[in-house]
Amino acid sequence: MAFLRCLHWLIACVTLLAAFVQRTRGTDIYLEWNVAYNNSIRRLLLINLYVIAINGEFPGPLINATTNDLIHINDGVAGTNCPIHPNTNWTYVFQTKDQIGTFFYFPSINFQKAAGGYGPIRVNNRNVIAVSFPKPEDEFDFLIGDWFSGDYKEISSKMDDISSSAILMNGKGPYGDPRSTDHESFTVTKGKTCRFRISNEGSSYNFIFRIQNHKMVVVETEGSYTNQTTLGSLHVHVGQSYSVLVTADQIEADNYIVVTPKWNLTTGAARPDPQGTFTVSNVTISQTFVLQGLKAEINGTTHYTVNNISYDPINTPLKLAGYFVNGSCVYQLDWFPVDSVHAEAAYGVSVVTGIHKGWIGLVFRNNLDVMDSWNLDGFGFYVVGFGNGDWTPESRSTYNLYDPVVRSTHPGTLKNWYLGQELYIRVHDPDPNPAKGRPPPENLLLCGIFEEYHHPTAAPASAPESGL
Ligand SMILES: *[C@@H]1O[C@H](CO)[C@@H](O)[C@H](O)[C@H]1NC(C)=O
Ligand SMILES: *[C@@H]1O[C@H](CO)[C@@H](O)[C@H](O)[C@H]1NC(C)=O
Ligand SMILES: *[C@@H]1O[C@H](CO)[C@@H](O)[C@H](O)[C@H]1NC(C)=O
Ligand SMILES: *[C@@H]1O[C@H](CO)[C@@H](O)[C@H](O)[C@H]1NC(C)=O
Ligand SMILES: *[C@@H]1O[C@H](CO)[C@@H](O)[C@H](O)[C@H]1NC(C)=O
Ligand SMILES: *[C@@H]1O[C@H](CO)[C@@H](O)[C@H](O)[C@H]1NC(C)=O
Ligand SMILES: *[C@@H]1O[C@H](CO)[C@@H](O)[C@H](O)[C@H]1NC(C)=O
Ligand SMILES: *[C@@H]1O[C@H](CO)[C@@H](O)[C@H](O)[C@H]1NC(C)=O
Ligand SMILES: *[C@@H]1O[C@H](CO)[C@@H](O)[C@H](O)[C@H]1NC(C)=O
Repeated sequence: MAFLRCLHWLIACVTLLAAFVQRTRGTDIYLEWNVAYNNSIRRLLLINLYVIAINGEFPGPLINATTNDLIHINDGVAGTNCPIHPNTNWTYVFQTKDQIGTFFYFPSINFQKAAGGYGPIRVNNRNVIAVSFPKPEDEFDFLIGDWFSGDYKEISSKMDDISSSAILMNGKGPYGDPRSTDHESFTVTKGKTCRFRISNEGSSYNFIFRIQNHKMVVVETEGSYTNQTTLGSLHVHVGQSYSVLVTADQIEADNYIVVTPKWNLTTGAARPDPQGTFTVSNVTISQTFVLQGLKAEINGTTHYTVNNISYDPINTPLKLAGYFVNGSCVYQLDWFPVDSVHAEAAYGVSVVTGIHKGWIGLVFRNNLDVMDSWNLDGFGFYVVGFGNGDWTPESRSTYNLYDPVVRSTHPGTLKNWYLGQELYIRVHDPDPNPAKGRPPPENLLLCGIFEEYHHPTAAPASAPESGL
């Protein structure tokens, strides 16, 4: 899976300040999490040696928030935060600022996601914000994804030949599978409508979701309300989330929920999604990135790359490097070729400039024989076009700028997570106004080249960068 990460932590503080002014701040939600391996949770006999559980739960607990709530939780984001070491705790504070919809959390380093540590997030609308459908009778979260046999640490180092052993639904094995110790089931009231929040938390396989004898009305994708579309089955790509409404309008019976992995990934080429209601017909594109997922050999080892550059993970979080030393010594800004393929396959710490308040046109190209999903960590993008063949600037004339849907993940093209396909966008705001970029939190963790720094005496080298 390919990643684009924005260094967005300071903008979170900025929006927070604004929130105080506008008095739109929601409730404070305090969550105490104990994240630990748990080998007594065995969902499938013989396989999965241990899972990453949160408070003994797998999947982890639901975060049930409302727009603008402030969540206090121990957590970290790879690339922007230092890791939380074993037997220590750290409190991460974030706001669901202006957000609404269905999301999920997951560990973002070392393929840990394949061992668990993920869980559902619901961001409910505030009462003053109208929703395009009646309040459902009940809501259910479906975290569905592939599950591998063996140790995720071994899986992560292998590039090819990774095959999933089973598809788990909310951490439970398939019904009727002799290896399953348990299976998931839901009880709905006849005649009532429920909201199913479906996410693909897996690593490799897209799936098709359907409920025996029932239709589904798609109403939301990752925080955008969509034009409501009635479907018999729903394709969910890695990383994506959807809400569907299901009415129990059939005779009382046990109805199977069927999840079919899409083993032939080439047939899952990007398809039109139900359309949202935003317009981007009046924006000026200030930068265009053409990003191509490729395979390349570097020093005898095959790697996945973006534009022939395989991301080289470093110990110093890029966000800290930006804050303390303006990036110097840690990364070379804009070395990464944003719109061409590097002639030589190489490792690199890929950090590029995103123009403050600008619009970036992102073109994802796939010449591989597998699907690739692109995820913009913490941000959404408008999906304005897709197609076969080569992209050229003329392709822009075919874009849907009128009502594209906003996604944080879009199927483009590659198979697995964290195998060199990462790119960070640095958005630098030269305005030194402290109201725009608050200082880091008091509990800021230091690591990498800043391990020895004595916080908070270090002064920022420049105005802090902000997110898109
Ligand atoms: C492991 O999970 C089980 C079942 O949820 C729970 O009872 C137990 O406390 C957990 N163990 C640890 C060490 O968290
Ligand atoms: C989630 O929060 C909403 C709004 O506060 C509340 O109505 C609902 O009952 C909560 N759901 C769960 C499962 O806690
Ligand atoms: C969290 O860490 C602090 C020290 O950093 C310690 O005092 C506190 O007891 C810890 N809390 C828990 C719940 O482990
Ligand atoms: C996958 O589907 C495509 C398009 O339908 C087809 O051309 C291809 O042969 C299939 N591949 C396999 C391995 O079945
Ligand atoms: C979405 O709904 C709007 C308003 O009803 C309509 O104009 C538009 O054509 C719809 N888009 C699609 C793709 O159905
Ligand atoms: C586009 O933007 C300009 C300048 O902000 C504004 O005057 C115009 O009304 C906008 N047009 C549309 C279609 O939104
Ligand atoms: C910090 O880096 C940015 C590029 O992100 C550059 O525009 C700015 O001039 C640098 N500031 C200093 C003080 O070097
Ligand atoms: C990537 O780099 C290698 C050399 O390391 C080169 O042979 C290959 O053609 C490059 N890939 C593309 C698509 O240009
Ligand atoms: C390949 O390995 C050699 C020797 O370890 C090293 O000097 C060189 O930088 C490596 N090449 C790349 C692209 O990392």
